[in-house]
Amino acid sequence: MKVVSTIAELKEIIRGWKKEDLSIGLVPTMGYLHEGHGSLVTAARKDNDRVVVSIFVNPIQFAPNEDLATYPRDLEKDSAYCESLGADVIFHPEPEEMYHKNFTTFVDMTLLTEELGGLTRPTDFRGVCTVLSKLFHITEPDRAYFGQKDAQQLAIVRHTVEDLNMNLEIVGCPIIREEDGLAKSSRNTYLSEEERKAALVLSRAVFHGQKMVADGETDASVVLGEMKQMIEAEPLAKIDYVKAVDGLTMQQITEIKAPALVAMAVYIGKTRLIDNFIV
Ligand code: PAJ
Repeated sequence: MKVVSTIAELKEIIRGWKKEDLSIGLVPTMGYLHEGHGSLVTAARKDNDRVVVSIFVNPIQFAPNEDLATYPRDLEKDSAYCESLGADVIFHPEPEEMYHKNFTTFVDMTLLTEELGGLTRPTDFRGVCTVLSKLFHITEPDRAYFGQKDAQQLAIVRHTVEDLNMNLEIVGCPIIREEDGLAKSSRNTYLSEEERKAALVLSRAVFHGQKMVADGETDASVVLGEMKQMIEAEPLAKIDYVKAVDGLTMQQITEIKAPALVAMAVYIGKTRLIDNFIV
């Protein structure tokens, strides 16, 4: 496995693979990898001849008040993990490599970002769409892999790829959880012991909502009401949003029927965590 930090080096490798007609899978990440990321690498390994994992804490998707500076990083551990899963290349550029000083072109998308996460994190999805467009152009993958954990991100990426006629398949993969239910996240490391316990309220509310829907409840206000009540009962939790939206358009819905997404963002202390279920 190779670790490369320049776009030129990676393009050179890609050119070689393309000449041999090898298929390429890309797993975009911000590093500090856990089994959630690992499941994407494993899926990519299965479907493709070559696998690239990008590890880049993308500055333009963080708002000024967010955790860009403190976002956890451990390239050595990430490299060993990717190698153990059979990745071929890690792409780990510095911010200046991705964004030269005259960088002015952004990929924006208006509809979906106004709902859910976009509502409270306005810069996030423009930065995500922009960096992914760059990564797709540099890597020319046949497939790129994303977790259902970031359900809105996944929907947005699919939409952008279709709108801009990008020549790749977007593969969505299920949420990987800790044994007690908490969705795995690089940000879980921010949690104190007490907060880690409190954070379980997210998955508890997700499982509860999921069961209500499975048992036949379709009224979004009833399902969301009970989920919110559960979360509000936890003193360390502060709801950012708990919403039900159409799984394709991300517009809010009052009746939960497939394809739907029930998603939440909740602050546990200062840490913003997300979780969701799809119908
Ligand atoms: P990051 O938060 O590192 O996540 C990288 C990918 O791993 C995303 O597709 C995310 O949905 C997936 N992932 C994270 N936790 C998961 C879990 N518990 N189960 C399954 N998949 C999980 O998302 C980003 O980085 C960035 O926005 C990025 C797409 C790399 C653009 O900068």
